[in-house]
This record gives sequence, structure tokens and C-alpha cells, in this order.
Amino acid sequence: MLDRKSLIDYTLYMEKVKTQIFDVSYEGAGVGKTDGQIVFVPKSLPEEELEIEIQKKTNKFLIGKISKIIKPNKNRITAACPYFDVCGGCDFQHCTDECERQLKIHILKNELKKVGFNGDVEFESSDKRLGYRNKIKFEVKDGKIGYFKTKSHNFFEVEFCPIASKKINDSLPKIKEFLQANNFENLQNVYVKENEKSVGICFLFSKNAKKYAKNAKKIEILSNFDVFFAFGDILESDKTKLICVLGDKKFDMRAFSQVNNFVAQKLYETLCNLAEGQVVVNAYSGQGVLSKMLAQKCKLVYGIEMQKSAHNKAELIKTANMTNICGKVEEKLKTINKKVDAIILDPARAGCQASVLQEIKNRKIEKVFYVSCNFATLIRDIKILQENYAIQSIKIFDMFPMTASLETLVIMGRKAN
Ligand SMILES: C[S@@+](CC[C@H](N)C(=O)[O-])C[C@H]1O[C@@H](n2cnc3c(N)ncnc32)[C@H](O)[C@@H]1O
Repeated sequence: MLDRKSLIDYTLYMEKVKTQIFDVSYEGAGVGKTDGQIVFVPKSLPEEELEIEIQKKTNKFLIGKISKIIKPNKNRITAACPYFDVCGGCDFQHCTDECERQLKIHILKNELKKVGFNGDVEFESSDKRLGYRNKIKFEVKDGKIGYFKTKSHNFFEVEFCPIASKKINDSLPKIKEFLQANNFENLQNVYVKENEKSVGICFLFSKNAKKYAKNAKKIEILSNFDVFFAFGDILESDKTKLICVLGDKKFDMRAFSQVNNFVAQKLYETLCNLAEGQVVVNAYSGQGVLSKMLAQKCKLVYGIEMQKSAHNKAELIKTANMTNICGKVEEKLKTINKKVDAIILDPARAGCQASVLQEIKNRKIEKVFYVSCNFATLIRDIKILQENYAIQSIKIFDMFPMTASLETLVIMGRKAN
């Protein structure tokens, strides 16, 4: 990840040089060398010989863009997406399914060296590499929807997104028509989310959402959807105000849900099997979908979730052996009086607070099942747990095909005293 200072240090080059790619970075870019300096080349593959344009330079590394592929990797394929060359969303559309799998395992193994793990990494594939995403956040500019270009905040428009579900893609022409009929200022993002019943669309404004909601023209264009206008910094925050302008106000745009239904199901089934028959805490439990599944197999389940709307959803599906606690894990874990056998940690990208990890150690919880979508905080937290816990196995759940993002399950067991 580029830090702010490095970004400021960038100088623009347009020099063309040759390089051979010998590795892949944790962000999915090929890694080469030129003049003894490391160069990251997005959308390249190991073993490729390339001519690249040096686009950015920091005092530690360069960033290059492919101008000519001299020798391609044998697994290189044509991207399914016409925007792949410019888009900052996907990293692996240019290689086969198997190649992506191998690269992801390699990336994770490289990271795990930092915690001394040299064992095997299992891999659970997605049923689809395209059309799997049930939720997308679009950028907006001048009434158009799109994404940012690779490693920038430069907007480009898209007509569709091949990794988004069909229903989301089908909604885009309507959203475009609606945006063209209105001249919204202060519109930050458009979120489109599919659930089992319908498609929800949320227009997030930095201000005046109420006024826009009242005066929106031609809202009937969106009559097939559940439509919300929101005001706030980020949609997920409890502080963000949502106004339902059309359809079912119960559609939950805000609460977290996994973006890939098939892989989420595989992850949840795995966790249920691991926790079978035990008293388990499902920390960072979201809308309680996993808690409910756990409740069918476990003695007792405690879900802890700080977001009110997600907690309320979990309350609607609770069973006799499932308790939903609304609040921060760092405050609520210690309030559980029962002896806990296992804990599932599925935090947001920021990972767990040190006090949560300390509480797990203090309570001598036998098993920790850590689900993470961010290496940096996963590695940091494993290091803390390793004092009392040993890694038993690791599995990638390929929640985000075509991108370098990984969902990782680390199973840890308490060391004998
Ligand atoms: C990655 S999501 C996982 C949700 C759930 N496990 C699932 O599979 O749907 C992380 C969740 O943790 C919640 N969260 C973030 N920080 C928290 C904290 N300190 N205490 C409790 N919940 C938190 C978020 O609101 C979000 O619902």
C-alpha cells in the first residue's frame, strides 16, 4: 500500500524500460527490477518479459505500466472486462482460474512467513469468477457512474461491471437515466445491493439528501427497486441518515453482508462444523446469518455486533440458544459469564483491538477461528495471539475472484501450559 508521503514524492516519468517479472505483490501487481530498483507492474504476471512505462517513482520503488508484452506468461488470457486495463477494481482478469488460485496462495504464504508459518494453505474456490458480486459501490461524476482508475482517484464511466451480478448490471441503465433526469450536486456514491427479494439502490450525498429526496424528478424510472437517499460520510455508519423514497424501507442497504453468496455459504458451513457442539462467541456478527446457522449445531451462540441496524436484523432471526449482544466486542466479550469454548473473529479491516485478544487469552478460550479480509491486521493480531495459541490450519475462501483481496480463515488452538 502506498503511504501518503510516498504519493507526494512521486515524480512523473515517461521513460520506457524492459523488465522481467519474478514475483507478485500482495496487491496483485507483478514485481520486477529495473536498474536495480524494484518496480511494481499492475496486471502483469510472473515470468513475463515486458516493456514498461515508468509512471511513478518513490525513493523506495517504481510503478510501471505495460507498454508491450515481449514474452507473455503461458497462463495469460484476454480479460473478460473491457475496462480491465484502466480499472482499479480487478487485478487478475488477465490469467486463468488456476493461475489466479496459485498466485493467491503464493501471496498469502509470503505474508504468513511474517508469523513463522510455512505450512500448506487450502483454497475454497468460488463457483463463479464473474457475475458473483451482490453489492457494488459506484463512484459518481457529472451524473455518470463508474470507478476510479488503477491507483488513482481519476474517474471513468462504466456501462456495466462483469464481476457484478446480472440484476445489478440490469439496474445500471435505469440508474443512469435517473441521474441524467436530475442534476444532483453533492452526490458521492451510488450503492447497488441485491438480496433474495429485490435490488436496493442508495444515493449517498455529502449534504442536502432530504432536499434532493423531496425534489427528485422522474423517480418512477426506478420503480422496480427499493430506493434510498442517504446523507453522511460512509453508508455503513450508524450516523448516516437513510430516507426510503421508493419501495421497501426494510431493505437493509447499510448492514454488512458478504458479497459472494456461494463462498459465504462455504465459509459459514466450515465454521459451523468447526464449532459443533460447543459454546461459541461469534464476534463481529453482522446481521446474525452465521449465528443462526451456528445455533443449529452449537450448544450456545453469542453474537456481538456494534451496528444497531445489523443487530436488530439478528434479533429477528434469533433462536433459544442464540443471544445477540449489541455493542463493541472490546466491551461486550467480557460481559459473557458462561465458559466459552471457541470464538469466531470476523472483524472489519481494522482487525481486533488488543484488549479483545487479551480477553481471549485471559479466558483461556480453547479455539480461535479468525476470518480476515486484511493481511496487515491479520498478521498483527496473529502475532499477539501466538504467545498462547498455535496456528493449526489456514484456508483461503475466494470471496473476491479477479481481485487480489482474500478472505482468510486461520484456525488457532490454545497451547498447553
Ligand atoms: C467483516 S463484517 C463481518 C460480519 C459477519 N461476520 C458476516 O459474516 O456477515 C464485520 C462486522 O463487524 C462490525 N464491527 C466493526 N467493529 C466492531 C466492534 N468493535 N465491535 C463489534 N462489531 C464491530 C461491523 O459493523 C460489521 O458488521
